Amino acid sequence: MDRMQIIKSRKSVRTFNGEKITPEDKEKLLNYTKTIKNPYNIPVEFMLLDREKYNLSSPVIKGEDTYIAAKVSRVKHCEEAYGYSFEKLILYAWSLGIGTTWIGGTLNRPLFENAANTKDDEYMMIVTPIGYPSKTQSEVDAKLRESVHGNERLPSSKLFFDKDFNTPLDFSEDCLDAVRWAPSAANRQPWRIVKDNDDYHFYLEHTPGYPSGVGWDVQKIDLGIAICHLMFIKDGKFIIDEPEIETNEYTEYIATISCESD
Ligand SMILES: Cc1cc2nc3c(=O)[nH]c(=O)nc-3n(C[C@H](O)[C@H](O)[C@H](O)COP(=O)(O)O)c2cc1C
Repeated sequence: MDRMQIIKSRKSVRTFNGEKITPEDKEKLLNYTKTIKNPYNIPVEFMLLDREKYNLSSPVIKGEDTYIAAKVSRVKHCEEAYGYSFEKLILYAWSLGIGTTWIGGTLNRPLFENAANTKDDEYMMIVTPIGYPSKTQSEVDAKLRESVHGNERLPSSKLFFDKDFNTPLDFSEDCLDAVRWAPSAANRQPWRIVKDNDDYHFYLEHTPGYPSGVGWDVQKIDLGIAICHLMFIKDGKFIIDEPEIETNEYTEYIATISCESD
């Protein structure tokens, strides 16, 4: 699979076939986690959590082998860094035929946080089950996918803009399509990009009243994922330098990827 195929074929896997992950695949995953970096240079620590040992489960997941969790220090931009790094792992797992699902809500959080030995100055925002996808979907999986319209995305014209937010971009590029197909919490797709020549300015359009209450901004994790998808397809320099582009009250500048002309 090339990179675009990995991105376009990946989907949240909530029904697994019950088989154990092979020791080779487990080793590949663990080795990979040690190489993951993000443009914020904020370390994200991954760990495998034994499902049986810690009695871990999620009401929406069936037949998983085990879980992977990740922790990050509570510092500025930790959500975006976390989203970027975790998505690198998700894409790598998919390239090996291993299914995953970002789980930030449908879990017994204290149980997972204890299993990951989470300290007071850390966040353990997300876990993912890992396993080999089942050929059929459990009922709860099918219902959940349908309720969040998991197979759908907003049209590019609602996500991508040319120089300002008044002008939807009228052409598509692989790197933008890669962002469009990124996963996001409840499939809300809060990322917006204003393209100005070689610069891709990322903004977060906050969903008004989106439940948080967990201490971090879940939608900033989504933005880290979106940045990961663009940089997975296109090389660019990561900068944080807000351009003078008018935004509405819900829209927050996050970062810019500056790419050389092709
Ligand atoms: C930050 C984040 C948190 C998520 N939390 C959950 C969750 O708690 N339970 C769940 O079933 N899916 C969760 N998801 C998965 C999304 O629902 C899913 O990515 C989205 O519906 C798009 O579907 P897809 O991943 O199959 O493309 C989460 C995704 C993200 C990015």
